[in-house]
Amino acid sequence: MTVNSGFTLSRTGTDLRNRTVLAAMTNKQSEQDGTLSKAEIKWLLRRAEGGFAIVTTAASHVHPSGKSWEGEMGVWGDHQIPRLAELADGIRERGAVSLAQVFHGGLRAPRSLTGQQPVSASENREDGVEEISRELSSSEITDLVDAFAEAAERCEKAGFDGVEVHGAHGYLICQFLGEKTNRRNDRWGGNLIGRSLFLREIVRAIRSRTSEAFIVSVRLSPQIDNIGVSLRDSIELARMLADWDVDIIHISCWDAFVGAENEPEDPRTITRRFREAIPPSFPLLSTGSVWTEEDAEFVLGEGADLIGVARVAIAHPNWASRLGDGGYEPNRPPFTPEHLLDADLSPVFVDYMRKWRGYVTDGRE
Ligand SMILES: Cc1cc2nc3c(=O)[nH]c(=O)nc-3n(C[C@H](O)[C@H](O)[C@H](O)COP(=O)(O)O)c2cc1C
Repeated sequence: MTVNSGFTLSRTGTDLRNRTVLAAMTNKQSEQDGTLSKAEIKWLLRRAEGGFAIVTTAASHVHPSGKSWEGEMGVWGDHQIPRLAELADGIRERGAVSLAQVFHGGLRAPRSLTGQQPVSASENREDGVEEISRELSSSEITDLVDAFAEAAERCEKAGFDGVEVHGAHGYLICQFLGEKTNRRNDRWGGNLIGRSLFLREIVRAIRSRTSEAFIVSVRLSPQIDNIGVSLRDSIELARMLADWDVDIIHISCWDAFVGAENEPEDPRTITRRFREAIPPSFPLLSTGSVWTEEDAEFVLGEGADLIGVARVAIAHPNWASRLGDGGYEPNRPPFTPEHLLDADLSPVFVDYMRKWRGYVTDGRE
């Protein structure tokens, strides 16, 4: 098995042309009302053309109250369907499978964008956010579960093959999962079963409103200390997810080559630990610091079925189709703005990439 070999998602029977996934990337190019812009469609279609098996959209809010930054894609209204359909059709025509990443910013969705106080599992404050969040009521939680399901239904109507539920990186679902950010005493909090109920209900509701063939991937952060997400809980949650009609578990490792942060005595990579915990045939996607073909093969060797990449695909749109002879070593950052514009990033996106350390020649060092 190599990164170039095909793979079939077991539950839906969806055939993937290889093991590569374009991971979700925020690019700030959507319109004010959450509609995809032509520039955003162009950047994603170029990667579908470049051979990726799965193309994931940027994080997209499922409800206006969940918007976390300017230019964020939305999947909360039918006005967004025509452009979603243009993207989904284009991805399919280029031989790739499409996933829309669905999320809610929770405590990171500021009043300046939503017109309301941020909401979360509990009252929470985080460095860098403008305002303390308030705790959601039980009925508001159920409404947000419905918003996720409606958004998924809308994505299917627009022609998407599936969604990736964003349970990683500290946004609302992750705020429910975390012991520190979820201090509720009702059924939505407490032990891991309670803290993961929001995610459980979202998956269940999506399943009830979409067809059998619709793919549901769930993205998790293995460990985030300030939210209270522990590796042990995340592995236990992955075991639970394998029984929830989920099609892919996606672990966001940031660095797929290292072991757990605070367990130097255990040299196993995070990917290996998840692989060993979930059923051997359950589709596992792992992302984090893969740059070369050798890197991708290493992570496959650790037990991932699919390899996600983000930063390398910004500069190298054909990354996936260049794999094959074993030795592909694409150039590394920094990249000139001209190079990135040639790779179909718009000036807005290039500007956003200037904030990522060392990525653009005239950006942050
Ligand atoms: C510009 C940029 C935007 C990102 N936006 C998202 C996002 O919207 N949702 C998400 O889950 N991860 C997001 N990520 C994280 C990536 O999906 C990926 O997990 C991370 O960059 C590590 O992979 P890499 O080393 O291949 O870049 C983003 C990363 C980058 C570089």
